[in-house]
This record gives sequence, C-alpha cells and structure tokens, in this order.
Amino acid sequence: MDPRTFADEVPTLMIRITVLGLGHVGLPTAVGLAELGWRVLGTDQDAAKIASLQQGRAPFYEPGLQELLSKHLQSGRFVPIADSSAAIRAANVLFVCVGTPQRASGEPDLSQVETVARTIARNLEGYKLIVEKSTVPVITAQWIKKTIERYAKTPTGASLPPSPVRAAPVLSEAEGSASERAAKPIRAATHGEPGQAVRERAVLGEGSEAAQGNPATTPGLEFDVASNPEFLQEGKALHNFFHPDRIVCGVESERAWEILRAVYEPLHCPILRTDLNTAELIKHAANAFLATKISFINLVADLCERVGADVTKVVEGIGRDPRIGMGFLRPGIGFGGYCLPKDLRAFVRLAETQGVDFALLKEVERINQQRAELFLKKVRQALWVLSGKIIGVLGLAFKPNTDDIREAPSIPIVESLLAEGANLQLYDPRAMPNMQQRFPEQEGKLRYCSSPDEAARGAHALLILTEWEEFRKLDLSRLREQMEVPILLDGRNLYDPASVRAAGFEYISVGR
Ligand code: UDX
Repeated sequence: MDPRTFADEVPTLMIRITVLGLGHVGLPTAVGLAELGWRVLGTDQDAAKIASLQQGRAPFYEPGLQELLSKHLQSGRFVPIADSSAAIRAANVLFVCVGTPQRASGEPDLSQVETVARTIARNLEGYKLIVEKSTVPVITAQWIKKTIERYAKTPTGASLPPSPVRAAPVLSEAEGSASERAAKPIRAATHGEPGQAVRERAVLGEGSEAAQGNPATTPGLEFDVASNPEFLQEGKALHNFFHPDRIVCGVESERAWEILRAVYEPLHCPILRTDLNTAELIKHAANAFLATKISFINLVADLCERVGADVTKVVEGIGRDPRIGMGFLRPGIGFGGYCLPKDLRAFVRLAETQGVDFALLKEVERINQQRAELFLKKVRQALWVLSGKIIGVLGLAFKPNTDDIREAPSIPIVESLLAEGANLQLYDPRAMPNMQQRFPEQEGKLRYCSSPDEAARGAHALLILTEWEEFRKLDLSRLREQMEVPILLDGRNLYDPASVRAAGFEYISVGR
C-alpha cells in the first residue's frame, strides 16, 4: 500500500503510528496496536522481511502472531512498507523498536537507533512523538533528541539549536490516577469512539495542559522523545502486550504524556509516568533483577544437591512470601535469549561508566555462565565415556514457545557433546531450522528428529534442555523401551523424580 494513501485515508488530526524495526518487539507491538484499533505502518531495514510480511508471513514464530498479522493485513490497520522515510512522514507517533546488539565490550551497539533518529530528522513534517521502545542505556533518549536536533533542518535550512543532554535522572513521579483509570470500563479504540477527542487534542497540542512544555519546539519543526520500555517475553509477547502489569512512560511534556496515554488507553492498566532516564533505567533494572533471581536459585539448587534438600520445596517455601514471589525462581541450565544476558552486561557497563561497581551483577552473569558446564558434568558422570554414545536432546530454543536460539544454553551443551564424540539426536518443536544453520546435520554425528520418540531411539541418555509443554507429557514407558539405556537428565525439572524412577529411569535433575 502506498503510504500516501494511508496518510490520506486517516484524518490528519488522528494518531497515526509507525513502528520502526519489526523484530521480536516491533512486530508484536505493531499488530497489537492495530488490534487496539490504531492504524499502524511498519518498516524495517531488512527488505526481505518487509516482502515476507507483505505476503502475509510472520518472519519468526510467536504464539498468535501469524493470526494477528493476517487479520490486520486484511483489515488494513497494519501496513508493512520498505520506505522508512515515507513511513515516518505518514505518521505522527513513531515507535522505535530497532535492534541494539551487543558489542565486544558488553555495551549495546546503538548505531541502528542513531540511523533511525537521523532518518526521522530528515523527515520531520509537523509534530511527531518519537517513542523509544528498544532496550537502551540511560541517556539514549536524550541522544535521540540531540541527534534529531542536529540533523533536522528548519524551514530556512539551519540546524536546530541542541538541547542539553542530562547525565543524571531527575526524580520520578508515579501516575497518581492509575487506580482511577484502572477502575474505568474498557472502551474500544476504534476511531470515533469516546477516546478520539482526547487523542486528537493530544496530537494537536490543544488544551491548556497539552500545549505546555514541549521542549523541542521550533517553528515548523516540533517533536517530543519518550521512553516506553517493553517488557514483552518471547513466547508470550502478545499476551504480555494485551495484559501488561504496568506501562512505563518516560516523558518530558504533557503533550507526549497525553498521546501515550491515549495510545494505551484501551489496555486499561496502570501507567507509570517518569522522566526519560528513569524509564530507561527501569527496563535494565527489571531484567537485571530477574536474572539475579535465576542465578540465586541456581546456586541454592547446587547447595540442595550437596545437602540432599529439594529446591522445588525451597522455592515454594520462600516464594509464598509475597516479598519474594514465586516468579523466576526455576532452577535449571541458566538463562539465555537475546535480552537477559545482553541487558545484564549492558547494565554492568553502564554502572561502570557512571562509577558504580555493580559487582553483584557480574556474579549473576558468572554463575549463569557456569550452568551449562555444570549440566555437562552431570552428563559425563552419568555416562562415563561420551565418545560413541548416542544422546537424545529434547529442546533447543532458549525457552518454550519460540524458535529463538540466541544465547540458548543448548548451544554450548551441543557444542561440547559433539566435541567429546557423542552422536546427537536433536528434537525441538520449533527451533530446529535455526539450530540447523548453526549445527548442520553430520552423518553419524548429529541428526535432527521429527519427534521426541525418534530422538530417544537407541539413546544412552535423553537430555531435556527446554521446558516445552509437550516434554512434560512424554510417554515414559514407551521411551524407556526405545532407549538403549534409560537415563533421563532433566535440565528443567519437568518431572517428579519418584514417578520417573518408578517408570524405570535413572533420573538426574537440578537441585533435588
Ligand atoms: C526477558 C524479560 O522477561 C522481558 O520482560 C523482557 O522484555 C525481555 O527479556 P525473554 O528474553 O523473552 O524476556 O525471556 P524470559 O522469559 O525472561 O526467560 C529468559 C531465560 O531465563 C530463559 O532462558 C528461561 O528459560 C530462563 N529462566 C526463566 C530460568 O532459567 N528460570 C526462571 O525461573 C525463569
């Protein structure tokens, strides 16, 4: 669809959204916003991805994503286009969801964010709210602002005067009326509904509040930058989008605040209003804390193994205390994925650059890095010699309900087992195509299987590396019959030890 048609179709006073970067955050956000009733353009530097989206194909697996994509390509509320400049010009709210990969130093590479900021600067026509959603270090929003000011030209061709980049966060303020808002009934977000007036006023900057405090106002060129970190978990991204615990909006003006409130109004959830730096810090602090919980419980699990205690009971015993909570206390082979490990390192680096030694988080990472090797030790202890042994592996994705293998613990485990001469039979419900690119099939050494049964056939041990639901319901007696030696090494504690042993297995799990 031609973006001009999109812009012309929707009255100019309305909120029109463009999502820049259609990865694991951007695409669920884009189709989620479309489902809320907004008109959304999506663009990405990867032209092949846009082409695939235009043909109706989601570029990665995420539960419900394909269905929602098809629905809103059909409804016309989500339109993927390759021309990012046109997509920027056609919208007045821009969600920046581009990648922030990790550099060797641990710091994120922000070049994609800068490129987007420069493209926005060249295409500033009328007021725009630039919403940073990518996980970025504190002060990035300030840099986006400065970059736009630097590269945007006023109508006379001069650059905008830069605004200062603040190094320290100011005090955050909670959105006092969150509970009042939560008490209101949900209303549909289709245009023309009651929320429309506030949305229009917000974009226009009308009303006594909305017109105040836009810090980047220059005649003819107006914009705000906001930080709106995402907390989407892969495998649950759409569920998280539609049922957020909270939405964090770091803003610098009433206008930006009103727009974001209007965008998220249909979700009807508590919204925390902060300044930009605080919002950015919240995201990193959240992921660092989750990672800390996992490493903590993994060490407790190690201790449980030494003293003969049961870590699952320990988790229940401590987690029922609401001050601790049960979440993210599942011991296993460590956390992986694109976010937790990378964000943890970025947070440590950020602290270092600010003169804060976050040694606690360095330990969290070190503990996590040992998990795969500790699990391999158990495999060696169980099998003695690995060379020539057939090992079935169930689960390759870094977590269930995704095909993502980035920083998955399965990678170092498969690598070591191969190096030690084991013959591997791998199975994962979704992640095998990605794993195949990293570890292609090797005759008599590594084979991808079409079912858990096939992975177990003739095996001297079966390993569970991802907590997929289907691995909780394996037919244990059938598996035992197919295996050469019935040893089950469960890296995710999916089974009750007594019942697996009763089914005739030697069973080794984590922390019990
Ligand atoms: C994470 C954050 O949870 C999310 O809020 C943020 O927006 C992006 O990063 P995600 O990377 O999708 O989400 O995965 P998450 O569910 O956090 O799991 C990360 C890793 O930790 C997985 O490998 C998982 O298996 C592992 N994990 C999780 C544990 O080992 N134990 C647990 O108790 C929980």
